[in-house]
Amino acid sequence: MAQLAVVGAGYVGLVTAACLSEFGHRVTCIEVDERRLIGLGAGDLPIHEPGLAELVWEHARDGRLQFTGDYTRIAGTEFVFIAVPTPSREDGSADTSYVLQAVHSLITHARPGLVIVIKSTVPVGTGDGIAGLAPVLDAGLEVVSNPEFLRQGTAVHDFLEPDRVVIGASSPEAAARVARLYASLDAPIVAVDRRSAELAKYTANALLATRISFMNEISHIATAVDADVDVVARIVGMDRRIGPAFLRAGLGWGGSCFPKDVLALSSVAASNGCRAPILKAVYEINELQREHAAELLLDAVRAIQDPIVAVLGLAFKPNTDDVRGSPGLGIAQRLLKEGVTVRVHDPFAFVNASRVLPDVDYRLDPYSALDGADALLLATEWEEYAALDWVLVRETMRGKTVLDGRNALNGVLLAELGFRYRSFGRAGQNNENGTAPHEHPIAPPGVSEASLR
Ligand code: UDX
Repeated sequence: MAQLAVVGAGYVGLVTAACLSEFGHRVTCIEVDERRLIGLGAGDLPIHEPGLAELVWEHARDGRLQFTGDYTRIAGTEFVFIAVPTPSREDGSADTSYVLQAVHSLITHARPGLVIVIKSTVPVGTGDGIAGLAPVLDAGLEVVSNPEFLRQGTAVHDFLEPDRVVIGASSPEAAARVARLYASLDAPIVAVDRRSAELAKYTANALLATRISFMNEISHIATAVDADVDVVARIVGMDRRIGPAFLRAGLGWGGSCFPKDVLALSSVAASNGCRAPILKAVYEINELQREHAAELLLDAVRAIQDPIVAVLGLAFKPNTDDVRGSPGLGIAQRLLKEGVTVRVHDPFAFVNASRVLPDVDYRLDPYSALDGADALLLATEWEEYAALDWVLVRETMRGKTVLDGRNALNGVLLAELGFRYRSFGRAGQNNENGTAPHEHPIAPPGVSEASLR
């Protein structure tokens, strides 16, 4: 078992440190934020991630996982994982200054042969750049790219059961040393050059974002031609060459990775003299979904004096309290600017949301947010929203517009109850005037369209 350090006890660093100690390694996690460090010492985690606290507590107790602010602890380690943020700069490029700071802080304490493992998502060429720094060469250090593919909400599972482990190295020996750290996993190890590993990370996120933006483009075509985008997604997803994941139309993608990584890849393309029209369109379509939603809501309340819109869901996706890049939050901000009173609810993310958006009316239960509202936007598909008592909601709301930003509600039922249901490309379920929608055979899950005929 190896002695290693992880720099950064944020979302990626903490998951990496906890999971590597679960493999049996001795891990020192270095965190420079003193408040965060004190919290961790008391067993208080800065992020919520299923299964993470249990792993951290277990390995802090058995001594395999330690937290410190002291870089001198690198002296006894063979590997240092760098897991610090690479936020977007104003021009969209990724800011690697935290990564470089970490490298400079560790160099003086590193012993020859130490491997710097870069987990942070960095522009292509960053690893080569670090490997070429005079102090890194002088100290005889190796640099390996080992990108993460962790989703919020399932990060521990994704680390412990990955589809693949990517190792980008310039020498087979360095790649083999890092691969041995993952020996207990039953997953393919893909050893490649550093630049391909770095580009693969951006490509994976950009491709997932592309699938969503593409289906969002199709959702508008579906509305125009009176087809159902969810049915279309199901059909194309059954093609094994395509697969069903990341085809759900709606308000689009948010979070801490997709927006930043699509922009950063565009910037990598531009700075290397490449045109990247697809990436530009993928980003623009995502912005347009939010604008489209805001316009629909504004249209719905335009004739009303002192209109109220309720936004249900502020987390960028369900089962997280992260509001970074959240469509619901962005649309709430836009409505506020237009003079609309905005009431919001989220079962989990309201503390984070209130830091970014203090001027809206936060409600602790969804019914209270909907009381007297002229329109409702469902922005995050938390399960509890689909299970609302819609008869009660219909009595409570002043207006009848429901914009289902995640195609998660039963539009036919809502229309029958008298709502004006709008979605993203479920033409058969949209109804303009609060009357029942025209008939489309919507197959329940598992029932084929053919059997309905
Ligand atoms: C993503 C990547 O999946 C992960 O590999 C990477 O390391 C970090 O970025 P995450 O940001 O946690 O993970 O969210 P993910 O579950 O991938 O969803 C991203 C966004 O796409 C969410 O806003 C989600 O609501 C949206 N989405 C997802 C859709 O709009 N439609 C879909 O079909 C799937």
